[in-house]
Amino acid sequence: MGERLAPHRPGRDDLRALFPVLAQEVNGLPLVYLDNAATTQTPLPVLDAVRQFEQHDRANIHRGVHTLSQRATEAYDEARRTLARFIGAGAAHELVFTSGTTEALNLVVHGLSTAGAAPAVLQPGDEIIVSGLEHHANLVPWQQAARRCGAVLRILRPDAQGRLRAQDLAALLTPRTRVFAVTACANATGERPPFEALLAQAADAGALTVLDAAQAVAHSVIDLSSLACDFMAFSGHKMHGPMGTGVLAGRRVALERLEPLRYGGDMVAWVTETEASFADLPMRLEGGTPNVAGAVGLAAAASFVDRTGRERIDAHLSDLRRHAAEGLAALPGVTVLSPDTGLTAIVSFVVDGVHPHDIGTLLDEQGIALRTGFHCAQPLLEHLGRGPTARASFAMYNTYAEVERLLAGVAHALKVLQ
Ligand code: ALA
Repeated sequence: MGERLAPHRPGRDDLRALFPVLAQEVNGLPLVYLDNAATTQTPLPVLDAVRQFEQHDRANIHRGVHTLSQRATEAYDEARRTLARFIGAGAAHELVFTSGTTEALNLVVHGLSTAGAAPAVLQPGDEIIVSGLEHHANLVPWQQAARRCGAVLRILRPDAQGRLRAQDLAALLTPRTRVFAVTACANATGERPPFEALLAQAADAGALTVLDAAQAVAHSVIDLSSLACDFMAFSGHKMHGPMGTGVLAGRRVALERLEPLRYGGDMVAWVTETEASFADLPMRLEGGTPNVAGAVGLAAAASFVDRTGRERIDAHLSDLRRHAAEGLAALPGVTVLSPDTGLTAIVSFVVDGVHPHDIGTLLDEQGIALRTGFHCAQPLLEHLGRGPTARASFAMYNTYAEVERLLAGVAHALKVLQ
């Protein structure tokens, strides 16, 4: 991609200047923001898009003949088209706005486990396979659904290094497997499973397939049209968009099998005192007034990520991750989870005899923000024989110099704590 199309290179000052929140001091030192797997920062073009909508076009959609309502409806529909292009959703797909990945996954789980006009898709004795790399949002809803429906939940456990293997999935798939759910990137370790092959394997066995792309969309090109994927979820706040926004995208025939989660206005075709029939997708799954400004901001974020270039961002994050992983592993008593140098964006580590919260606190004193704890992935960390970890996660604006600050900060914390 040429300079003209991508004027802002990852990690450079001109790009950082578009993220005003980064230009501040924390505890007397320049902020180093390395908690991007939890929430990325939002650039000016996204803030401008939201402000433009709120200032000029704010009105409820679909319900008004007046000009502002029509402009708001067009802005919402255009945001949907932009995001569909961003993830390669073709004509066979639909895209539903949600409040984030958690709501999107709950929409799928509820939709498959609840009877409506048709019986629930999940029936007693059916089997659900969830990978052992998952965030709680792609595990706990399935636990609940299995309990409610009398289905069996099976876990595709990773090996001791946290990697998923195709042969282990083959051993779990049976004619009763209805669902297979996996992440595109493990939020706790940065592991990138071979999700394309795993989804295809599960789909070949007749399962509905679910991809949690929350930790991938900000830097990996995910082409839904080329995946054996029925449902894919991601969040706005992990790709430089507004908080409280997200997407469930999927094959139309699969989305049509979901019983809606929210009944009410805008999702119905007709209503009598005793009955209702539902609108077509996507509105069928979007009951109530949506977060239109959020959708506009999320689409602006997708355009911003694409202007910067996802391959370029991913290469930059891989460099940062490699440098961080190698530097951390060289410190005394530090173990990096998923030390594979081919990974990107997220590095989790533990220190012998030191609680990660103490590391996080000492780093915050040096202006460095990272996350400590189980990262909503407790079963994975326990499977790997670990408890809580410290996790640094990178975004397009982070720099090599910031990784150096992280390494120096951890070295300093170790001197204080060990
Ligand atoms: N899911 C977010 C994380 O990984 C909160 O930190």
